[in-house]
Amino acid sequence: PGKPAKKVPGTDFDPVPPNTNDAVTIPPGYDQRVVIRWGDAVVPGAPKFDFAKQTAAAQEKQFGYNNDFVGLIPQDPLGIANLLVANHEYTTEVHMFPVDQYDPANPTEEQVKIAWAAHGLSVVQALRDPVHGGLRVVPSPFNRRITLNTEFEVRGPAAGSQFLKTSADPAGRTVRGTQNNCAGSVTPWGTVLSGEENINQYFANAGAVTDPVQAARLKRYGFSGGASTRKWERFDKRWDVTQEPNEPNRFGWVVEIDPHDPNSKPVKHTHLGRFKHEGAAIKIAEDGRVVAYSGDDERFEYIYKYVSNGKYKKGNSAHARRHNSSLLDDGTLYVGRFTGDSPAAEIDGTGKVPADGEFDGSGEWLPLAAGNKSFVEGFTAEEVYVFTRQAADKVLPTKMDRPEDIEPNPVNGRVYVALTNNSDRGAAGKAGVDEANPRNGNRNGHVLEFEEIGGAASTKFAWRLLLVCGDPKAADTYFGGFDKSQVSPISCPDNVAFDPHGNLWISTDGNALGSHDGLFSVPVSGPERGKVQQFLSVPTGAETCGPVVTSDLVLVAVQHPGENAPNSGSPTSHWPDGGTTQPRPAIVSVWRQRGRHLPGKIGIR
Ligand code: FEO
Ligand code: CA
Ligand code: CA
Ligand code: CA
Repeated sequence: PGKPAKKVPGTDFDPVPPNTNDAVTIPPGYDQRVVIRWGDAVVPGAPKFDFAKQTAAAQEKQFGYNNDFVGLIPQDPLGIANLLVANHEYTTEVHMFPVDQYDPANPTEEQVKIAWAAHGLSVVQALRDPVHGGLRVVPSPFNRRITLNTEFEVRGPAAGSQFLKTSADPAGRTVRGTQNNCAGSVTPWGTVLSGEENINQYFANAGAVTDPVQAARLKRYGFSGGASTRKWERFDKRWDVTQEPNEPNRFGWVVEIDPHDPNSKPVKHTHLGRFKHEGAAIKIAEDGRVVAYSGDDERFEYIYKYVSNGKYKKGNSAHARRHNSSLLDDGTLYVGRFTGDSPAAEIDGTGKVPADGEFDGSGEWLPLAAGNKSFVEGFTAEEVYVFTRQAADKVLPTKMDRPEDIEPNPVNGRVYVALTNNSDRGAAGKAGVDEANPRNGNRNGHVLEFEEIGGAASTKFAWRLLLVCGDPKAADTYFGGFDKSQVSPISCPDNVAFDPHGNLWISTDGNALGSHDGLFSVPVSGPERGKVQQFLSVPTGAETCGPVVTSDLVLVAVQHPGENAPNSGSPTSHWPDGGTTQPRPAIVSVWRQRGRHLPGKIGIR
């Protein structure tokens, strides 16, 4: 009674209430299935996962740890066969080995090598399962692991830079491996982009660097201290910045993987700059130029945009993939400034909506470098690309509340940014509020949308906040102007995606409201703009990643289940295998029941 008719296509499901179930909890009428979990076979010949007897050789062939981004690339018009690509962001060794096997102060060489193999990405072929529903991974020549041992080609204007040369790679053009791959995207040409994010944590002895220029560069990227947490420097000197001073500069890039060609060499694209890339996502401008958006996920960091010089060639043939990939190596890199349109006095840090009814304003993209030309005083182009944060500081961009995933909406053309949280906003000695980051001590984050003025390659845009997240009962939240009594609480937006109707889907990391993280849908236009509904929740200690939302399938990556407590030998989560098992990060498919197990359209009745 009194319930308004549900009519936005794609969001017609009964929301999951906030909860703390050690399970993936989905709406009534839906089914779920684990697609692949940490340790499952990727490459043919992978040994069966054995938690108590893991080896590096096995992990090199198995699905890695802590899946984050998920990309699904259909190989036929019906999406029966698909390439599924997942990132493995980081390792938590205390949860990866039996408690009596792993001494954090003294990891064995084999354990360290397991961690190197558990990073990176996986490519698998996944088929629709007409009997049981969801997706099923099959042995396939496409299946591939990319790890910290896989060679990457460095491309773009910083390839061969003096700052990238090491004793193992005197040319500065070949990097072994990728790490901390967080969000990502599928490009219009069918490859995958992935951001190298929290790269600093892997390196030792930044605190011992005495050269003031090098020390300042390391500090600006968060490299600090002596021994690293994982102690990798004991088994490969490249993780010790006093021995290989340039190795840190070889991480923090956007990488590109071509899942269609299992023999392709992955690429690091230096023209997109080096910072804590959350991910990168592509929009094709009206004139055919390729635009890439990327956030630097740390408190008070910036949002970047890259615009190519060359033009996109349609399709995903090998030729088109090669051509379009090369567009990311020749263009202009920009950083964003967001200016509010309401009087500063109305942005009081409480989250109160200003008198004009919106947190909104205008923005501009400030050029940093194009090819070998720098636009930043005191920085060569090479320095702009490798030490992008310091170069960007000079042009006064807007310090944001941790820019996570940024994705263009294929239906309305606008671009959506998850700003996950920033409890330091307004703290002593830190930046105060502005209209784009309007809450002091922002624990629940917000979602911003912007629209380029005069096409995607333009340097001007208009922006507004879609959501100021949190408990809808709290005065400091805003749900696009929608009736807050009808929305799900949402906290700490992280990865974003769109369904075929253009509804925004948001996965969360770090729910500050006391219940588990989840996946949420929200229409971005029409009378239900801002109506957030929770579609699923994830197990204890996990964050929700991925996501992929097609017309009849949802995929989420459940990252770090059980990570909310140190490993005492009795984990806080036993998902997905149940009983007393160790939790395992995994990708889950969810679909609407129709008949027996045939999938129906997501959310459409
Ligand atoms: Fe790895 Fe910004 O989340
Ligand atoms: Ca305003
Ligand atoms: Ca993230
Ligand atoms: Ca995250």
